[in-house]
Amino acid sequence: MIKPKKSVQQLKPYINGSHSRAIHENHAKIIKLDSNESSVTPSPRVLTTLVQFIQNAPLNWYPDIDSTILVEKLAEYTGLPADFIQTFNGSDNALETICRTFIEPGDEVILCMPTYDHFRVYAESCDARIVPVCGDSPFDSDIPRLLNAVTGRTKMIYMVSPNNPTGLLFSADEIEQILLKTKDVLVIVDEAYFEFCGITAAPLTQKFANLVVTRSFSKAFGLAGLRCGYILTQPDNISSINKIRIGKNINSVAQAAAAAALDDLEYMESYVAEVKEAKTWLVSKLRKKGLTVRDTPANYILLEVAKPQEVQNFLEEQNVFVRDRSFMPQLTGSIRITIGNRLLMERFWKVFEKIPSSCFFTNISRATIQT
Ligand SMILES: Cc1ncc(COP(=O)(O)O)c(C=O)c1O
Repeated sequence: MIKPKKSVQQLKPYINGSHSRAIHENHAKIIKLDSNESSVTPSPRVLTTLVQFIQNAPLNWYPDIDSTILVEKLAEYTGLPADFIQTFNGSDNALETICRTFIEPGDEVILCMPTYDHFRVYAESCDARIVPVCGDSPFDSDIPRLLNAVTGRTKMIYMVSPNNPTGLLFSADEIEQILLKTKDVLVIVDEAYFEFCGITAAPLTQKFANLVVTRSFSKAFGLAGLRCGYILTQPDNISSINKIRIGKNINSVAQAAAAAALDDLEYMESYVAEVKEAKTWLVSKLRKKGLTVRDTPANYILLEVAKPQEVQNFLEEQNVFVRDRSFMPQLTGSIRITIGNRLLMERFWKVFEKIPSSCFFTNISRATIQT
């Protein structure tokens, strides 16, 4: 065996959600609430475009590495100039490419914890030293503590807004406060769930050269399987990133689908409204059962239970997939549940109701009173 580089030898890998062949083959029977994907297929307009595209486009050629048509539509969607936009093979690929572009071995990278763990892997594989910063509560921002962690070796700050899995949202004012004090640090604001809350740091990219916003077509637009994401940042940063970005990665089919999705914003907006309604319905059901639930401005909630692994296993046996997050700092007992449309959440509830109360509460008598 050839040994990988030291940072990879020592790396704790990211744990993916469910993704087996059996899951894909039996997708109609599966209630997949573990990766914050959309619960519905992309818009009919996207599907029609895809069929026509596959029949007519030169799939034997490499894709447009500048994603010209998609970038034009993204400029309109984001309100930023086209040269502030760069597409990627999913926002994960954007985060990875940003790390490879900017991190020198030994650079410090601040993570606002607990958060999406994939970024840690990209940064560590570039020999970064991770500096986790937790507030007193994982549900409240603590900007002074974050700024306190910045040293002369800090290269990046990674913050997810709304945060996965806590739902913590950073306001544009808070992000500006950070940017003003960290001119030599690249601040990455991951807005994978932007469409669910409408709050963004994107306009700040015009004022601050050290800000990169990342976005995804995998969540509200329902294109997770096609892989498409993008960044918003000043053209100089894009030039640096483009030295190593693999342009051919954003395949022609994904470009066509993402462009068509932007032509049908109504579909995305009506799905977002459905998710909000279903979230309110489910949160109220769970609370009535006496459970502690954290609502978020994104398409997931956090449920606190006594035996998270048992709850996850019970559900999995019934083909329902959720994500145990209890290993994360300050999230003991927490399970993340993706919210889809009302129909799916009603199917989820039917299975959820069968979980024994002993999995939810340490004190059974409390469960008896509450249920
Ligand atoms: C915060 C966050 N960023 C990025 C991603 C990855 O998104 P994409 O599918 O665009 O790579 C996810 C996926 O769950 C996420 O939660």
